[in-house]
Amino acid sequence: MKVINIIKSLVLIYCFVLLNACSNQHKLQASSQNKPANKGLKDYYLNYFPIGVAVSPRSLNSDEEPLIKLNFNSLTPENDMKMSSLHPSEFVYNWENADAIVSYAEQNNMKVRGHTLLWHQQTPAWIFNDAATGKQVSKEVLLQRIKEHIYAVVGRYKGSIYAWDVVNEVISDNPNEFYRKSKYYEICGEDFIFKAFQWAHEADSDAQLFYNDYNEINTSKRAKIIELINKLKSAGIPINGIGLQSHWAISEPSNEQLENTLTDFIKLGLKIQITELDISVYSKEHKAREKKSEDLDTRFTEEREAKQLEQYKMCFSTFRKYKGNISGVTFWNVSDRYSWLDNFPVKNRKDYPLLFDKNLQPKKVYWEVVKF
Ligand code: GLA
Repeated sequence: MKVINIIKSLVLIYCFVLLNACSNQHKLQASSQNKPANKGLKDYYLNYFPIGVAVSPRSLNSDEEPLIKLNFNSLTPENDMKMSSLHPSEFVYNWENADAIVSYAEQNNMKVRGHTLLWHQQTPAWIFNDAATGKQVSKEVLLQRIKEHIYAVVGRYKGSIYAWDVVNEVISDNPNEFYRKSKYYEICGEDFIFKAFQWAHEADSDAQLFYNDYNEINTSKRAKIIELINKLKSAGIPINGIGLQSHWAISEPSNEQLENTLTDFIKLGLKIQITELDISVYSKEHKAREKKSEDLDTRFTEEREAKQLEQYKMCFSTFRKYKGNISGVTFWNVSDRYSWLDNFPVKNRKDYPLLFDKNLQPKKVYWEVVKF
């Protein structure tokens, strides 16, 4: 009887040890699947292109910081280099936030993309008006102010910022119109575009200069962008690349649209960068609109997750295919905790456009993007 009891105990101990070993093995596998130690997006793409992200000093001081450091080797200030932040009135420059981002990048061996020298939005009113009379300034005065702005900003970060979005979104979405009818255009005509590139080059002849825009997958808009680039090139204006913002969605671009867009731009002989990538889980809409009842379901459903995963997979395999021409891919925001798409095109409709979830964990789509 005693012997039987001893055998029973031994069998029990053996089973316990065996079970424990299996579960440890399981845990090890799960953790290595979820978090390969010290390997981030930038490491998987080391032989392809830098992987960037749009940040604010707040994100660099938050719990997102370790994730940023592990995954990205290029930073773009989300707002802090736009004219309204950096140069809110004629003789006032706010360098603090922009400096903080640049110095964080330098300490962590990251590149910095400057965004953006001229844009019709987030531009302060002072630049268009005479301070004394309040009247609109002449073309000469506006060009002079633009020149001073570009010299000051590009000059300050000479050697620290390797690429600038010099001009953002000057091509019209209207098929019957070439340029966007912005205040800059109204006062200066197209000259401000040409001059901006020239002055940026004078301020830092080593910086790579980009024209940045959205919706290049639209053939009519793309044709106009190509025409603009050709005009700049034939006027001898220094331009190095085209930035595709790439605010996309589960419904667009198709593989064919993306291929055509990239190959058309590649023919121009310039570098291409994906400058503001995110993939909305809703169908793409280009204009802001009111919330409707169907917008109330904002769950990250399996269906939305699966469609987004396919779309990201297609985009990154195409980017890898053109690695010789694409010199950077930057995500617009860090994680699904916060995205500008939470408020566009519909205010207060949660979106999930990035590779990390609200708890800063890699989503399923992350593992697809790094699997090649
Ligand atoms: C444009 C701008 C970016 C950013 C996004 C949306 O794409 O280039 O700086 O403002 O809109 O937030």
